[in-house]
Amino acid sequence: MRVFCIANQKGGVGKTTTAVSLADTCAKTGARTLLADFDPQCNATSGLGVAPAANTPLTTESASPLTCATHIPNLDMLPGCRNVAEIEVLTRCNESAMQQIRQQLQQTMEGYDFVLFDCPPSLGQITQLALSAATEIIMPIQCEFFAMEGLVQMIEVIKKAMHKRQNNDLQFGGIVLTMYDAGLELTHEVEKEVRDFFGGIVFDTVIPRDAAVSEAPSHALPILEYAPRSRGARAYTELCMEML
Ligand SMILES: Nc1ncnc2c1ncn2[C@@H]1O[C@H](COP(=O)(O)OP(=O)(O)OP(=O)(O)O)[C@@H](O)[C@H]1O
Ligand SMILES: [Mg+2]
Repeated sequence: MRVFCIANQKGGVGKTTTAVSLADTCAKTGARTLLADFDPQCNATSGLGVAPAANTPLTTESASPLTCATHIPNLDMLPGCRNVAEIEVLTRCNESAMQQIRQQLQQTMEGYDFVLFDCPPSLGQITQLALSAATEIIMPIQCEFFAMEGLVQMIEVIKKAMHKRQNNDLQFGGIVLTMYDAGLELTHEVEKEVRDFFGGIVFDTVIPRDAAVSEAPSHALPILEYAPRSRGARAYTELCMEML
Protein backbone atom coordinates (compact mmCIF):
# COMPACT_ATOMS: atom_id res chain seq x y z
CA MET A 1 0.00 0.00 0.00
CA ARG A 2 1.23 3.49 -0.89
CA VAL A 3 -0.22 6.37 1.07
CA PHE A 4 0.18 9.87 -0.35
CA CYS A 5 -0.29 12.92 1.84
CA ILE A 6 -1.06 15.98 -0.31
CA ALA A 7 -0.07 18.86 1.94
CA ASN A 8 0.98 22.48 2.05
CA GLN A 9 -0.02 24.87 4.80
CA LYS A 10 -0.60 27.57 2.19
CA GLY A 11 -4.19 27.86 0.97
CA GLY A 12 -5.28 27.62 -2.64
CA VAL A 13 -2.11 26.06 -4.05
CA GLY A 14 -3.87 23.12 -5.75
CA LYS A 15 -3.86 20.45 -3.00
CA THR A 16 -7.45 19.36 -3.53
CA THR A 17 -7.21 19.51 -7.32
CA THR A 18 -4.06 17.40 -7.17
CA ALA A 19 -5.53 14.91 -4.67
CA VAL A 20 -8.72 14.38 -6.71
CA SER A 21 -6.88 14.18 -10.06
CA LEU A 22 -4.23 11.77 -8.81
CA ALA A 23 -6.80 9.61 -6.99
CA ASP A 24 -8.74 9.35 -10.23
CA THR A 25 -5.65 8.46 -12.29
CA CYS A 26 -4.51 5.93 -9.65
CA ALA A 27 -7.97 4.30 -9.77
CA LYS A 28 -7.72 4.13 -13.57
CA THR A 29 -4.70 1.85 -13.26
CA GLY A 30 -7.15 -0.71 -11.83
CA ALA A 31 -5.78 -0.37 -8.30
CA ARG A 32 -8.15 -0.08 -5.35
CA THR A 33 -7.89 3.57 -4.37
CA LEU A 34 -9.15 5.59 -1.41
CA LEU A 35 -9.37 9.38 -1.35
CA ALA A 36 -9.59 10.69 2.24
CA ASP A 37 -10.84 14.26 2.62
CA PHE A 38 -9.33 15.71 5.80
CA ASP A 39 -10.32 19.31 5.12
CA PRO A 40 -13.41 20.85 6.83
CA GLN A 41 -14.04 22.75 3.58
CA CYS A 42 -14.91 19.31 2.07
CA ASN A 43 -13.85 20.46 -1.42
CA ALA A 44 -12.60 17.03 -2.52
CA THR A 45 -15.87 15.48 -1.30
CA SER A 46 -18.21 17.89 -3.09
CA GLY A 47 -15.86 17.98 -6.09
CA LEU A 48 -16.70 14.32 -6.64
CA GLY A 49 -20.41 14.75 -5.95
CA VAL A 50 -20.25 12.97 -2.58
CA ALA A 51 -22.19 14.27 0.44
CA PRO A 52 -20.02 15.36 3.41
CA ALA A 53 -20.30 13.18 6.54
CA ALA A 54 -22.52 14.44 9.35
CA ASN A 55 -20.24 13.27 12.14
CA THR A 56 -16.50 13.55 12.52
CA PRO A 57 -15.10 10.27 11.20
CA LEU A 58 -12.48 8.20 13.05
CA THR A 59 -13.32 9.62 16.48
CA THR A 60 -15.68 6.86 17.61
CA GLU A 61 -15.85 3.12 17.07
CA SER A 62 -18.18 2.62 14.16
CA ALA A 63 -19.92 -0.58 13.05
CA SER A 64 -20.74 0.72 9.57
CA PRO A 65 -17.93 1.51 7.13
CA LEU A 66 -16.75 5.10 7.06
CA THR A 67 -15.92 4.98 3.37
CA CYS A 68 -18.26 5.04 0.39
CA ALA A 69 -17.98 4.28 -3.31
CA THR A 70 -17.75 7.14 -5.82
CA HIS A 71 -19.08 7.11 -9.37
CA ILE A 72 -15.54 6.28 -10.55
CA PRO A 73 -14.68 2.57 -10.69
CA ASN A 74 -12.07 1.49 -8.10
CA LEU A 75 -12.26 4.86 -6.28
CA ASP A 76 -13.72 5.02 -2.77
CA MET A 77 -13.89 8.03 -0.54
CA LEU A 78 -13.61 8.82 3.14
CA PRO A 79 -15.91 11.84 2.94
CA GLY A 80 -14.93 15.10 4.54
CA CYS A 81 -16.82 16.50 7.50
CA ARG A 82 -17.40 20.17 8.34
CA ASN A 83 -16.67 19.37 12.01
CA VAL A 84 -13.44 17.50 11.37
CA ALA A 85 -11.61 20.25 13.25
CA GLU A 86 -12.97 18.50 16.37
CA ILE A 87 -10.03 16.17 15.88
CA GLU A 88 -7.74 19.14 16.58
CA VAL A 89 -9.44 19.73 19.93
CA LEU A 90 -9.78 16.05 20.86
CA THR A 91 -6.17 15.20 20.24
CA ARG A 92 -4.42 18.31 21.48
CA CYS A 93 -2.35 17.17 24.47
CA ASN A 94 -4.14 13.80 24.38
CA GLU A 95 -1.86 11.21 22.86
CA SER A 96 -4.21 8.29 23.63
CA ALA A 97 -7.07 9.93 21.69
CA MET A 98 -4.66 10.44 18.77
CA GLN A 99 -3.60 6.81 19.05
CA GLN A 100 -7.22 5.63 18.84
CA ILE A 101 -7.89 7.79 15.78
CA ARG A 102 -4.72 6.48 14.13
CA GLN A 103 -5.91 2.90 14.71
CA GLN A 104 -9.32 3.64 13.18
CA LEU A 105 -7.58 5.21 10.22
CA GLN A 106 -5.33 2.17 9.74
CA GLN A 107 -8.41 -0.11 9.75
CA THR A 108 -10.17 2.17 7.26
CA MET A 109 -7.19 2.02 4.88
CA GLU A 110 -6.98 -1.77 4.92
CA GLY A 111 -7.37 -3.46 1.54
CA TYR A 112 -6.49 -0.43 -0.60
CA ASP A 113 -3.50 -0.25 -2.94
CA PHE A 114 -3.38 3.55 -2.93
CA VAL A 115 -4.62 6.03 -0.34
CA LEU A 116 -4.48 9.80 -0.91
CA PHE A 117 -5.10 12.38 1.82
CA ASP A 118 -6.33 15.83 0.93
CA CYS A 119 -5.07 17.98 3.81
CA PRO A 120 -6.37 21.33 5.03
CA PRO A 121 -4.20 24.45 4.63
CA SER A 122 -2.68 24.17 8.09
CA LEU A 123 0.01 22.33 10.00
CA GLY A 124 -2.34 21.27 12.81
CA GLN A 125 -3.16 17.87 14.24
CA ILE A 126 -5.14 16.80 11.16
CA THR A 127 -2.20 17.29 8.80
CA GLN A 128 -0.02 15.53 11.35
CA LEU A 129 -2.49 12.62 11.51
CA ALA A 130 -2.26 12.29 7.73
CA LEU A 131 1.54 12.49 7.89
CA SER A 132 1.61 9.78 10.55
CA ALA A 133 -0.23 7.38 8.22
CA ALA A 134 1.48 8.38 4.97
CA THR A 135 4.33 6.74 3.11
CA GLU A 136 4.97 9.72 0.82
CA ILE A 137 4.42 13.46 0.96
CA ILE A 138 3.40 15.30 -2.18
CA MET A 139 3.61 19.07 -1.88
CA PRO A 140 1.95 21.26 -4.50
CA ILE A 141 3.53 24.69 -4.87
CA GLN A 142 1.77 27.41 -6.80
CA CYS A 143 3.91 29.38 -9.21
CA GLU A 144 3.43 32.77 -7.57
CA PHE A 145 5.43 35.31 -5.64
CA PHE A 146 4.92 33.94 -2.09
CA ALA A 147 5.41 30.31 -3.17
CA MET A 148 8.33 29.61 -0.82
CA GLU A 149 6.91 31.50 2.14
CA GLY A 150 6.10 29.26 5.10
CA LEU A 151 7.84 26.25 3.58
CA VAL A 152 10.45 26.25 6.33
CA GLN A 153 7.77 25.55 9.00
CA MET A 154 6.18 22.94 6.76
CA ILE A 155 9.50 21.17 6.33
CA GLU A 156 10.10 21.26 10.11
CA VAL A 157 6.74 19.50 10.67
CA ILE A 158 7.59 16.93 7.99
CA LYS A 159 11.00 16.30 9.54
CA LYS A 160 9.40 15.76 12.96
CA ALA A 161 6.89 13.31 11.43
CA MET A 162 9.76 11.46 9.73
CA HIS A 163 11.73 11.39 12.96
CA LYS A 164 8.80 9.81 14.84
CA ARG A 165 8.54 6.98 12.33
CA GLN A 166 10.71 3.90 12.21
CA ASN A 167 12.39 2.30 9.19
CA ASN A 168 12.29 5.55 7.18
CA ASP A 169 8.82 4.55 5.98
CA LEU A 170 7.81 8.19 5.36
CA GLN A 171 9.48 9.71 2.33
CA PHE A 172 9.36 12.99 0.53
CA GLY A 173 7.44 11.95 -2.59
CA GLY A 174 7.96 15.22 -4.37
CA ILE A 175 7.05 18.83 -5.04
CA VAL A 176 4.75 19.64 -7.92
CA LEU A 177 4.53 23.07 -9.50
CA THR A 178 0.89 24.00 -10.09
CA MET A 179 -0.94 26.70 -12.06
CA TYR A 180 2.13 26.94 -14.25
CA ASP A 181 1.88 29.68 -16.86
CA ALA A 182 4.80 29.40 -19.30
CA GLY A 183 4.00 32.86 -20.68
CA LEU A 184 4.76 34.57 -17.38
CA GLU A 185 8.26 35.60 -16.37
CA LEU A 186 7.27 35.11 -12.71
CA THR A 187 6.47 31.43 -13.33
CA HIS A 188 10.01 30.83 -14.60
CA GLU A 189 11.50 32.74 -11.67
CA VAL A 190 9.54 30.68 -9.14
CA GLU A 191 10.38 27.45 -10.98
CA LYS A 192 14.08 28.29 -10.93
CA GLU A 193 13.99 29.18 -7.23
CA VAL A 194 12.11 25.98 -6.30
CA ARG A 195 14.29 23.70 -8.48
CA ASP A 196 17.53 25.33 -7.31
CA PHE A 197 16.48 24.93 -3.68
CA PHE A 198 14.84 21.48 -3.72
CA GLY A 199 16.71 19.86 -6.62
CA GLY A 200 15.74 16.31 -7.54
CA ILE A 201 12.61 16.10 -5.37
CA VAL A 202 10.73 18.45 -7.72
CA PHE A 203 8.67 16.55 -10.30
CA ASP A 204 9.63 17.17 -13.95
CA THR A 205 5.93 17.36 -14.78
CA VAL A 206 4.33 20.75 -14.12
CA ILE A 207 0.58 21.38 -13.97
CA PRO A 208 -0.43 24.19 -16.33
CA ARG A 209 -3.01 26.78 -15.46
CA ASP A 210 -6.04 25.49 -17.36
CA ALA A 211 -9.62 26.76 -17.14
CA ALA A 212 -10.94 23.20 -17.58
CA VAL A 213 -9.19 22.19 -14.33
CA SER A 214 -11.07 24.86 -12.37
CA GLU A 215 -14.40 24.04 -14.05
CA ALA A 216 -14.29 20.27 -13.43
CA PRO A 217 -15.36 20.29 -9.71
CA SER A 218 -18.55 22.22 -10.49
CA HIS A 219 -19.54 19.21 -12.62
CA ALA A 220 -18.53 16.86 -9.77
CA LEU A 221 -15.93 15.33 -12.08
CA PRO A 222 -12.15 14.89 -11.98
CA ILE A 223 -10.38 16.61 -14.89
CA LEU A 224 -9.76 13.32 -16.69
CA GLU A 225 -13.52 12.70 -16.92
CA TYR A 226 -14.53 16.30 -17.51
CA ALA A 227 -12.05 17.21 -20.24
CA PRO A 228 -9.88 14.17 -21.06
CA ARG A 229 -8.09 15.96 -23.89
CA SER A 230 -7.28 19.10 -21.91
CA ARG A 231 -3.74 20.13 -21.02
CA GLY A 232 -4.62 19.72 -17.35
CA ALA A 233 -5.78 16.13 -17.84
CA ARG A 234 -2.62 15.27 -19.75
CA ALA A 235 -0.42 16.87 -17.12
CA TYR A 236 -2.09 15.03 -14.22
CA THR A 237 -1.79 11.72 -16.10
CA GLU A 238 1.93 12.36 -16.60
CA LEU A 239 2.33 13.42 -12.98
CA CYS A 240 0.65 10.21 -11.81
CA MET A 241 3.00 8.11 -13.97
CA GLU A 242 6.01 9.99 -12.62
CA MET A 243 4.76 9.58 -9.05
CA LEU A 244 4.07 5.85 -9.39
N1 LIG B 1 -4.09 23.89 -12.86
C1 LIG B 1 -5.07 24.75 -12.54
N2 LIG B 1 -5.56 25.61 -13.46
C2 LIG B 1 -6.55 26.47 -13.13
N3 LIG B 1 -7.12 26.55 -11.94
C3 LIG B 1 -6.69 25.72 -10.97
C4 LIG B 1 -5.64 24.77 -11.21
N4 LIG B 1 -5.41 24.09 -10.08
C5 LIG B 1 -6.27 24.57 -9.17
N5 LIG B 1 -7.05 25.55 -9.69
C6 LIG B 1 -8.09 26.32 -9.00
O1 LIG B 1 -7.47 27.06 -7.97
C7 LIG B 1 -8.27 27.07 -6.80
C8 LIG B 1 -7.50 26.46 -5.63
O2 LIG B 1 -7.22 25.09 -5.92
P1 LIG B 1 -7.43 23.96 -4.81
O3 LIG B 1 -8.78 24.07 -4.20
O4 LIG B 1 -7.07 22.68 -5.43
O5 LIG B 1 -6.33 24.42 -3.78
P2 LIG B 1 -6.13 23.93 -2.27
O6 LIG B 1 -4.69 24.02 -1.99
O7 LIG B 1 -6.80 22.63 -2.05
O8 LIG B 1 -6.94 25.06 -1.46
P3 LIG B 1 -7.24 25.02 0.13
O9 LIG B 1 -5.95 25.35 0.79
O10 LIG B 1 -8.29 26.08 0.32
O11 LIG B 1 -7.73 23.64 0.45
C9 LIG B 1 -9.53 26.30 -7.15
O12 LIG B 1 -10.53 27.20 -7.55
C10 LIG B 1 -9.10 25.42 -8.31
O13 LIG B 1 -10.16 25.09 -9.16
MG1 LIG C 1 -8.20 22.07 -0.61
